Amino acid sequence: MSRLITYGTFDLFHHGHLRLLRRCSALASEIHVGVSTDAFNMEKGKRSVWGYSRRSREVLETGLVTSVFPERSFEQKPKDITRLGANLFIMGDDWKGQFDWLVPFCDVIYLPRTPNISTTLLKSKLNWTSNDSQCR
Ligand code: CTP
Repeated sequence: MSRLITYGTFDLFHHGHLRLLRRCSALASEIHVGVSTDAFNMEKGKRSVWGYSRRSREVLETGLVTSVFPERSFEQKPKDITRLGANLFIMGDDWKGQFDWLVPFCDVIYLPRTPNISTTLLKSKLNWTSNDSQCR
C-alpha cells in the first residue's frame, strides 16, 4: 500500500493545487495533506485570504485526498510521516532540495509546478494585502 504525504497553504484554491493533488492521487492509494494553520502562516510572515477551516475543507472536497491535518510547525514532518506510515513525500519543485532531509524517513519527490498560477498572483489580481481582514 503506497501512502503519500504533502503540505501546503492551499489558499484561494486554484488549478495548480488541483493538478498537484491529481498527480499525487495517481502515485499512491492514500493521500494525506498537511494544511498550514493560520498561526503557522503568521510565524512564516504569511497571511491567507481564507482561514484554515475553509482551506482544509476545499482540499478535502476535491475528493482526491484521504485525510487533511493541521501543519503547525516545520519540524512535525518526520512525526507525521511515521504516524501515517507514509512512504512518499511530494512537493512542487518550487521547493526543490528543501526537503531532502526527509529521505531517511521516506522517498522525496518534487513535481513540476503548474506554470502561470499561484495564490500570490491571485492575491495581487484581487488587490488583497495582508492588512485586509481574513475571510472565513
Ligand atoms: N503548486 C503547484 N503549482 C502551482 C502552485 C502551487 O504545483 N502553480 C504546488 C506547490 O508547489 C505546493 C502545493 O501546490 O506543493 C501547495 O502550494 P501553495 O504554496 O499552497 O500554493 P502557491 O500558489 O504556491 O502559494 P503562494 O503563491 O502563496 O506561494
